[in-house]
Amino acid sequence: DNHLRAAQPLYNLNAVVTAGPTYEAIDPVRFIGNHSSGKMGFEIAKTLKKLGANVTLITGPTAEKSNSINRIDVVSAQQMLKACLAHAQADIFIMSAAVADYTPADPAKEKIKKNDAELVLHLKKTTDILATLGKNKPKNQILVGFALETYNEENFALEKLEKKNLDLIVLNSTQDPEAGFKKDTNKITIFNKLKEKTVYEAKSKSDVAVDICNQICKLIPSK
Ligand code: CTP
Ligand code: CA
Repeated sequence: DNHLRAAQPLYNLNAVVTAGPTYEAIDPVRFIGNHSSGKMGFEIAKTLKKLGANVTLITGPTAEKSNSINRIDVVSAQQMLKACLAHAQADIFIMSAAVADYTPADPAKEKIKKNDAELVLHLKKTTDILATLGKNKPKNQILVGFALETYNEENFALEKLEKKNLDLIVLNSTQDPEAGFKKDTNKITIFNKLKEKTVYEAKSKSDVAVDICNQICKLIPSK
């Protein structure tokens, strides 16, 4: 077991990664979504696997491919919540999905016809999956969240770290031209529980995944 652990520091650990957007139905043919491509989560899943973890990838609708990774496809925030709760005992849980904050309160059973000049949609808050996981976090689990902000970035990220009971939070820089949803590059800052901050250069999402996984490896107690 010992030499395996050196090459594969996450050997024998169960890791769950969420990725992609969620789609929230308005009616049978329409939804509210977002621009998340799923790339970041898929890269993290691949890297965790290389490091020896047993990886489960829970993903919203995406064009990304994942050969040889155990994958659970979901559509809505509600479905993602259910899949995550079924895997809440994982040793490592990384919530990189862009989960909808609001969902239509009462999706129409039939396609909505255009009638009036205005249409009002009633939305209700979704369950915060990450906060739910944080509240019930198993003793030795490493729980990682993401934050996307357009102002007051670091303070909001630190607030989320604490409120959601996380071990690490990855702040996605929206100010940097190299960062963003459909891009292949990303620029991140990571905070740990002690509020220690690591700022990274803009780099490919696969290299960003390595940086994130290295931070996780540092938190694995060496047995
Ligand atoms: N998240 C989640 N469930 C939700 C919403 C968000 O699990 N219903 C997770 C995201 O996957 C991410 C983290 O919470 O890891 C932070 O998401 P973000 O959108 O930055 O923050 P929110 O807590 O949703 O707050 P706000 O959008 O108001 O900034
Ligand atoms: Ca949000």
